[in-house]
Amino acid sequence: MTKITAAITSVQGYVPEKIVTNLDLEKMVDTNDEWIVSRTGIKERRIAAPGEALSDFGVKIIQGICEKRGISPLDIDMVIVGSITGDYRFPSSSNVMCDKAGCKNAWGFDLSAACSGFLYALDVGRVYIENGTYKKVIVIGADVMSSILNYQDRATCIIFGDGGGGVLLEPNNEGFGIMDTILKADGAGREFLLQEVGGSKEPLTAENIGENRHFVFQEGQTVFKQAVTNMAEVAANIMEKNQLTSEDVDWLVPHQANLRIIDATAKRMGVGKEKVMVNIEKFGNTTAGTIPLCLWEWESQLKKGDNLILASFGGGFTWGAIYLKWAY
Ligand code: UT7
Repeated sequence: MTKITAAITSVQGYVPEKIVTNLDLEKMVDTNDEWIVSRTGIKERRIAAPGEALSDFGVKIIQGICEKRGISPLDIDMVIVGSITGDYRFPSSSNVMCDKAGCKNAWGFDLSAACSGFLYALDVGRVYIENGTYKKVIVIGADVMSSILNYQDRATCIIFGDGGGGVLLEPNNEGFGIMDTILKADGAGREFLLQEVGGSKEPLTAENIGENRHFVFQEGQTVFKQAVTNMAEVAANIMEKNQLTSEDVDWLVPHQANLRIIDATAKRMGVGKEKVMVNIEKFGNTTAGTIPLCLWEWESQLKKGDNLILASFGGGFTWGAIYLKWAY
């Protein structure tokens, strides 16, 4: 019997219209364009409109996926959303998206894995397809980082942006789709990148809000060191595990946190710059959104059978790599 694999059959991205450049940020915090570009590779990022929530991104993503594939939202079995910036703490943004987009036959949930949210969600969706439970699973990675950023903190506000994307997973029996996954986590890293208050550990109070502890905190250097090592290592590991040489890899699709981390990963894999998807200069770090945004932007250049390595590192710590063969 032919093994069923889970293949991506449609991709859609979404970024809000509003652009915030490094020059705009120079007016808000003590920073400058030269520092941001040389340390991160970011030139500008997108910011959601007032009132625009994660589910609004999701609805556009779901509609785009269905239109491109020529299917109805009623055909969707499941919607898994990798994100840390849902509309509410509960209910899940998957519930809201399914309602607004008309996915009346779908169920789903949100999955919290910060910058690795899309990879984690993709792996969960893979299992439901491979075991034959579902035929059409939408996997979304998206974040509205502006909703949890302190625009007076230059250590974080220059890095992150809003946006994301999603893919449709369907069964494939021609040998295309997701070939292998390696996912990792180390909760000991939680103190270096987190939103400290507002959860059950320390609910919001006027006092902790006054101390700005409800915003994203990042100890950048520690996260950077961990990211450089672990993202490069997991990407190299998945190549070795699948006997892939650098020539075999057609595309590296890295999480867009910092151009220096992306370069280190490509170098470790022996993959040339021409094979690396990079759009950090336009969108910054959209957390769970970066990888599907890359797939969306590069979709027209991808060929059936291309070997892609997706790799991420983020808060948690969470990291991982997915090897897939492009199916269309
Ligand atoms: O996506 C989730 C995972 N996140 C990541 O992977 C991010 C990992 N971390 C990073 O990308 C980098 O650590 C940052 C981009 C956040 C910071 O870059 P860095 O090279 O690690 O800078 P640093 O924190 O070591 O700061 C270097 C200098 C310091 O000044 P002194 O002490 O050398 O005088 C900072 O005060 O740069 C200063 N600095 C800034 N200057 C201008 C820090 N932030 C800024 C800023 N503008 N925004």
